[in-house]
Amino acid sequence: MREELERLVELDREKKIVAHIGALLGWDQETGMPEKAVDERSEQLAMIQGLAHAKAVRPEIGELLSKLGSTSESPLGDPELAADERAFLRVLRRAYDRDTKLSADLVEEMARTTSLVQPAWVKARKEDDFASFAPHLEKILGLERRVATCLGPGKPPYDVLLDLYEPGSTEASIAQVFSRLRGDLVKILGKIKSRAQVDDSFLHEAIGEGRQRAVSDWLMDVLAFDRSRGRLDISAHPFTTTLGSDDVRITTRYLENFIPSSMFSTMHETGHALYELGLAPGASFAGTELAEAASMAIHESQSRMWENMVGRGEAFWKGHFHKLVDLVSPTWDGLGREDFLRAVNKVEPSQIRTDADEVTYGLHIILRFELEADLISGRLAVKDLPKAWNAKTRELLGIEVRDDAHGCLQDVHWSAALFGYFPSYSLGNLYAAQFWEAMRKDLPDIDARIEAGDTASLLAWLRDRIHKAGGSYLPGELVERVTGHALDPSHFVSYLDRKYARVYGY
Ligand code: CO
Repeated sequence: MREELERLVELDREKKIVAHIGALLGWDQETGMPEKAVDERSEQLAMIQGLAHAKAVRPEIGELLSKLGSTSESPLGDPELAADERAFLRVLRRAYDRDTKLSADLVEEMARTTSLVQPAWVKARKEDDFASFAPHLEKILGLERRVATCLGPGKPPYDVLLDLYEPGSTEASIAQVFSRLRGDLVKILGKIKSRAQVDDSFLHEAIGEGRQRAVSDWLMDVLAFDRSRGRLDISAHPFTTTLGSDDVRITTRYLENFIPSSMFSTMHETGHALYELGLAPGASFAGTELAEAASMAIHESQSRMWENMVGRGEAFWKGHFHKLVDLVSPTWDGLGREDFLRAVNKVEPSQIRTDADEVTYGLHIILRFELEADLISGRLAVKDLPKAWNAKTRELLGIEVRDDAHGCLQDVHWSAALFGYFPSYSLGNLYAAQFWEAMRKDLPDIDARIEAGDTASLLAWLRDRIHKAGGSYLPGELVERVTGHALDPSHFVSYLDRKYARVYGY
């Protein structure tokens, strides 16, 4: 490896080390930190984030990138370099450009504003008071537009923000995918509504934390989460965080009267963790920007695949249901597998995105995508957001919004300045279904394997085709390589249609 490249790897690793220390502070804050430590912790986090940013914008990085021929226009650099070296230059150039284009002032103002807006949002949601939140949202929008102007002067601001989470995507490219998806989801929902609703009342029977924890532990083992490289804890909202290449933490939550919450969160976060633990674009690039996910949506495709395609699938429960019943005994003694499978796949339009099933989830995302695009562009005024939200909920989901707390105030994302993030969730479902279909061609007996407890074959396939490449490919390139064609929502739609035809008997 050329000397300049070796130095770049070294500089990049230093940046990641600082970022991982910050992640440890953040993990601790969500899982075990005493309440009164919050002010000091936010100072500690701010300092660490500042250090990570300083490491990321060192002029030496820019000089070395230029020396190796990597520019903003042609980030891959010198064609003489090896493929993985060029991929590394591309991801590093992307990160360097992003981090250096934002002034320290703007970064600081963003951090300060979001930390002030957070409690204002929590209060507004609790008191169902959109008017008190509106000026804060206005401020965040102003900052988001400024960020977009710094990062992509002359480009449509929403395109610039989308590209932060899903490299290469634009409002138009996502709108095209979503417009097909929308019609198909509404059709499937119509068929489901024509059938009798499934009974899921037994899912609400009380199961204590001890038994739920045993189920989560068992599921992590079945999914082959290597516990010498990670662990499970409890937090208010489940998440995954990476503290190093051999240290990935996940969390879940135990609701006494609804065990599916902890079961499927654990499987979802395990899916994220398996991806993180499988990122391996060659030993020379361990611990660098190249050993990162291809995008947020690709990340989400991994969690959704384990949660939904495996974890809410027939094959898995054919082989594992008896063990689940044992673990929660005596609560579900005598319960039938088919009844359980139907219950965990119940479809019902609801107001809250995070409670949504596989069919209506996409409609929640389409709603947010359309509204946030309009907010950023100024086509929709902040004061008109509640009305627009409620009208779209009626149009897409066919239900009335109870109040703004259950409507436009429900999600944390906008108050956290995460405009452009929402589409990743739905794109993740689409990628998952397309990958799943490609996998089934390579492993035609996958159902029998999963039923027999062999999830390792699926994991090995994912590792080989998706995980190990890390950030070597843009998401669009990756899906082409793995499946032979561009992202196409029809795979997800036919997956849903097959599944729900069986669950609802239409
Ligand atoms: Co996720």
